[in-house]
Amino acid sequence: MKRETFSSGLAVFFATLGSAVGLGNIWKFPYLTGQYGGGAFLAVYFLCILFVGLPVMLGEFYIGRKTRKNAVGALNQLKPGTSWKYIGIMGALSSYLIMFFYSCVAGWVYFYLFKAIKGDFAGITMAAAKTQFGEVIMGPLSPIVWQFIVMAVVASILAMGVKDGIEKITKTLMPLLFVLIIICDIRALTLPGAMEGINFLFQVDFSKLTAAAVLTALGLAFFKLSLGMGTMITYGSYFTQDNNLFGTATKVALSDTLVSLLAGIAIFPTVFSFGMEPSAGPGLLFMTIPLVFSQIPFGNVLLVAFFFLTSIAATTAMLSLVEVPLAYLNEERGVSRPKAAIINAVIIASIGILATLSVDKASLLGSYTFLGRGFFDWFDYISSNILLPVGGLLIAIFIGYIVKKEDIKREMSNNGKLNIDFVFNVYYFILRYVTPALLLIVFLNSIGIIKF
Ligand code: PFF
Repeated sequence: MKRETFSSGLAVFFATLGSAVGLGNIWKFPYLTGQYGGGAFLAVYFLCILFVGLPVMLGEFYIGRKTRKNAVGALNQLKPGTSWKYIGIMGALSSYLIMFFYSCVAGWVYFYLFKAIKGDFAGITMAAAKTQFGEVIMGPLSPIVWQFIVMAVVASILAMGVKDGIEKITKTLMPLLFVLIIICDIRALTLPGAMEGINFLFQVDFSKLTAAAVLTALGLAFFKLSLGMGTMITYGSYFTQDNNLFGTATKVALSDTLVSLLAGIAIFPTVFSFGMEPSAGPGLLFMTIPLVFSQIPFGNVLLVAFFFLTSIAATTAMLSLVEVPLAYLNEERGVSRPKAAIINAVIIASIGILATLSVDKASLLGSYTFLGRGFFDWFDYISSNILLPVGGLLIAIFIGYIVKKEDIKREMSNNGKLNIDFVFNVYYFILRYVTPALLLIVFLNSIGIIKF
């Protein structure tokens, strides 16, 4: 059977952007930007994208498109019989670990969308918002049911294939996400006191730019752009042959950042105009947002729009996460796509329950901890702090030192059709000397060997 590819440059762009845009844009990026000095943090974030994100992303694109294989098969083809294939195996492992907790949070998002449609948030108070969130995450049955629904949706889309599943869905939903986010932005910006929120996001305060902020920016760039775990190898393997890899990487990184900023513009003016303190993570998404949106005219419509766009973001990111082990099972183990989709959904849903039942100390499995962390936190810690930076570092070393420079240049210039001499030389230098050093620092810091 002929291997599928995306059908056009636009399809490549939307699918890859769909992977990058996720929960990270909505509950991580805007808050961290505000907390660490706004414009100053953004400047550092852009440098991290330039020196670490783009080089690793391009490296992954190269590996995927050159071999047209899943992450394990791709590395095996480039260096047969060596241990490099473990990058792919590690990638599949990271994607499972991330999915265990990501599907749990995505389940809450779907549930909140359902509640927003039902009108559950009309006129709620702070205390009620807290109680509702508590009920949603404690369950124990409902969050598991929603996690299963999430996995059923993801598996159904993936089972339909690369073109009829991933491509069709991302091409329809990503533009819709932009429309919904802009509707939320317009409403937020026309609220009294909106400027205070904008100032929180866009102030330029270099005094908040600590070493911790710089490391955060680097980790964020990595997680945001879905790097270090074979996602971009797998998607790269579906790219069209004439796609300009440099162009796609740049467009995706810029559009992803734009989505994060638009999300911040929808969130902070609203939060500030109601005199609330912006909080991080789940608190922001599941308590502050319903609370403030419920107080503005047409707020319920906005809440539906907001949770719908968040569901889209989470779903398209999960498609790329699950595609890593799916493509492996399909191509290396001969399992059909629909069957591989079901197998992965079952694995993720059944182990993911451990995450869902351990989100809080009072949860059913909340008392099962090891070194102070429960299941949820361990899945997150091992994947984000260890496997992703190590995966990225190994990819940078593989591309910079193991593969022949001419081979990379030939692939990236589409066999000499694109004139990339200058950019390629700059890229190759950064990839060899700057990217690995920075990644090593982040990794050593995240496991506590060096401290800033
Ligand atoms: N980029 C996604 C986000 O920002 O939410 C998360 C993610 C997706 C990480 C895919 C890694 C990945 F392979």
